[in-house]
Amino acid sequence: MENVLLTGGAGFIGSHTLVELLERGYQVAVVDNLCNSCEEALARVKKITGKDFAFYNADIRDRAAMDKIFSENKFDSVIHFAGLKAVGESCHKPLEYYDNNIYGTLVLLETMRAHGVKKIVFSSSATVYGTPERLPLTEDCRTGGTTNPYGSTKYYLEGILTDLYKADNEWNVILLRYFNPVGAHASGLIGEDPKGIPNNLMPYVAQVASGKLKQIHVYGNDYPTKDGTGVRDYIHVVDLALGHVAAIEKCTTAGVHIYNLGTGVGYSVLDMIHAFEKACGKKLDYVIEPRRSGDIAECYANSDKAAGELGWKAKYGIEEMCRDQWNWQSKNPEGYNR
Ligand code: NAD
Ligand code: UD1
Repeated sequence: MENVLLTGGAGFIGSHTLVELLERGYQVAVVDNLCNSCEEALARVKKITGKDFAFYNADIRDRAAMDKIFSENKFDSVIHFAGLKAVGESCHKPLEYYDNNIYGTLVLLETMRAHGVKKIVFSSSATVYGTPERLPLTEDCRTGGTTNPYGSTKYYLEGILTDLYKADNEWNVILLRYFNPVGAHASGLIGEDPKGIPNNLMPYVAQVASGKLKQIHVYGNDYPTKDGTGVRDYIHVVDLALGHVAAIEKCTTAGVHIYNLGTGVGYSVLDMIHAFEKACGKKLDYVIEPRRSGDIAECYANSDKAAGELGWKAKYGIEEMCRDQWNWQSKNPEGYNR
């Protein structure tokens, strides 16, 4: 079994991946500076799995700390979640985003190289496709044309990781392009805990359902889609976590391996609101607003490559996504209370 370091392992996707790895007997360690998460999430992971693991409260940009972590462990691979991810904030603070996401990754890669660890799974995003060249998106679709610094960090980092492999063919680089992760672990113990007012649709919908927010704002109903609202490929976070396990297990040879992690099905904003209404048993109030700048009409994956090569397929649909998101929200109305 591989010994895996999870950077950003206390976060939303990291904590769910941690559960799946621990449950399969992996040895894991987490490094996280808790800038967008809290230790309680890690305590909950221990509760779910009954297993312990090392946690380093450190910044991936801290070379000395990273060197110490790699000296104390014999990692086989790294799953690199750590990064800042708020699109709007990245437009106001581009330097902070480039510093954290790009410089942070460079320090991580240099530390990995110095310790002879050459297998990395990187959290990329469907945002690297910019305006989709065609739908559904396949991994060979054109990338670039990102419209915000956050998206650009993902695009540039894919390029940096590819260059690293070109220079040293021993590297095993796995780029996972996530579509729209939603939902929570079925236990209701871990889930997404956004700071302040959520930017993304599903946490916002969940907070309207719990009474914390008043009304959902639907950004545009004049897109060329079935009901005029934006269409996305929502994926249950546990399915996403399982995609990482499959990548660690199946990608055993050096190279640059790229996979879309989505369900392949697009749902509109109104589809998601109605599915959530069923899950929570309440009618949810919404109002149509103008389009949000930078949004595209439709985005959904073709995930055949992951199915064929990783043997991975998303198994949960929107019913389970909404059920589990509501379970988490109703049991933890204030998130982890940070
Ligand atoms: P998250 O904010 O919940 O998790 C990221 C974690 O990284 C947090 O725990 C944060 O404290 C930590 N972190 C950030 N900078 C750090 C640093 N310099 N040193 C140490 N720790 C640091 O976000 P998430 O939703 O779990 O996303 C995980 C990764 O997946 C991110 O790279 C994100 O960009 C990417 N991604 C997320 C989505 C999404 O919708 N959630 C979609 C596509 C890609
Ligand atoms: C957003 C990010 C993207 C990131 C992705 C990860 C933006 C512009 N893009 O994508 O970079 O990779 O999250 O999940 O933030 N919507 C509403 N009302 C809301 C919020 C959203 O109607 O309050 C609509 C949006 O217009 C969109 C859909 O819901 O059609 C999904 O939005 P969101 O959850 O923010 O995700 P994306 O914009 O797809």
